[in-house]
Amino acid sequence: MRDICDIKDLEKIRTPFYLYDMGLLERTVSEVVRLSAQYGIHAHYAVKANAEEPVLRYVAASGLGADCVSGNEVLEALRCGFPADGIVFAGVGKTDEEIEIAVRNGIFAMNCESLPEIEVIDCIAERLGKKAGIMVRINPNIDAHTHKYITTGLEENKFGVSEHEFEALLELLGRCKWIDFKGLHFHIGSQILDVKDVFSLECRRAGEIVSYFEDRGLKVENVDLGGGLGIDYHDPDGHPVSDFETWFKTIAAGIPSREGRRIFVEPGRSLVGQCGTLIARVLYVKHGVDKTFLITDAGMNDLIRPALYGAYHKVENLSAMSRKDAEMKKYDVVGPVCESSDVWGEDRELPETERGDLLAIRSAGAYGQVMASRYNLRDLALAYYAVDGKLNSDGMMPVAGGKHNSIDE
Ligand code: LLP
Repeated sequence: MRDICDIKDLEKIRTPFYLYDMGLLERTVSEVVRLSAQYGIHAHYAVKANAEEPVLRYVAASGLGADCVSGNEVLEALRCGFPADGIVFAGVGKTDEEIEIAVRNGIFAMNCESLPEIEVIDCIAERLGKKAGIMVRINPNIDAHTHKYITTGLEENKFGVSEHEFEALLELLGRCKWIDFKGLHFHIGSQILDVKDVFSLECRRAGEIVSYFEDRGLKVENVDLGGGLGIDYHDPDGHPVSDFETWFKTIAAGIPSREGRRIFVEPGRSLVGQCGTLIARVLYVKHGVDKTFLITDAGMNDLIRPALYGAYHKVENLSAMSRKDAEMKKYDVVGPVCESSDVWGEDRELPETERGDLLAIRSAGAYGQVMASRYNLRDLALAYYAVDGKLNSDGMMPVAGGKHNSIDE
């Protein structure tokens, strides 16, 4: 792990906990800000990946918008400084209450996922006497070559409006008086590594669909291509920042530009994934017949990705870094929860490990803390932030106007 703070500071904290590298967040966000300006593509951060307040405040202060997926995310984004006209709100099952939150606060657009949802929004907007901005999520019927739980663009899918509904959509938009149609939205899946191929295909399909609607008189002012850019779970230090350049370049080249048209993207994982690490302590070293188990105090309730998707997260022994001559051994690293899927990794090669060692479970910044639960009534892991080599528990970055407060104070 990159040397982001003193391991002695980490030793003082009750494990397990999340540790965020705010310097890396800054580098990653700056790269997106730079490329956004260069390619004229506006980014909305997908809040679902990590909704920690310091993260949201930093991203908002950097000028990115927010992509939300619940009424509470919309309210939290507003509270953390995202302007209402920089917020989009997707989700297949928006409740009437959530739609009201969006309309009352005047967010830029709800990304609508079905025709019945558009009708409900029209009624609610009429009742509130305020027009509702919407974009329509289209299902482009593309295979994102990723895990089946996180692919969303195939035809028979709960997400978005499919081709067989296009005529009905046009007719509906023509009669909804309280709807302000802003554009089309696409999102085909997450953790996409085949960047050029998959995103140029998405852009080609999106371009065809935009033309279909424009040929029928519907002006598509904004085209939102969603998120999905992957990160390197195997080599987080080799590739701490994803290849945003290829992503932005592919999209800029793939969507036909037109005067006044704006292009959006919604990165989640790629902005925050590598910034977060789950720090755990080894409770027991248990010798089986052929295997040796390291049992940690962090479990699948803290980070569910390995148990839910079979996801790989690199594991490192931080305490053994100072034991220069430690022999390398193979371990099955497992959590304490009463489920056999609570496994961090099998046959992981690590320096000889002892009870009490601190382990780093890497690339846990996205879909980690937000997906934690209190299963087994375990406590939720808290978050700590490394800012300029110091640890604090409020994570405020100088740019966000916050204070530095060391854990010793
Ligand atoms: N936009 C929409 C409409 C989305 O549904 C998502 C993610 C994103 C943007 C952000 O995608 P990203 O840039 O993070 O790939 N829990 C899973 C990932 C679920 C992704 C859901 N949608 C995981 O841990 O891998």
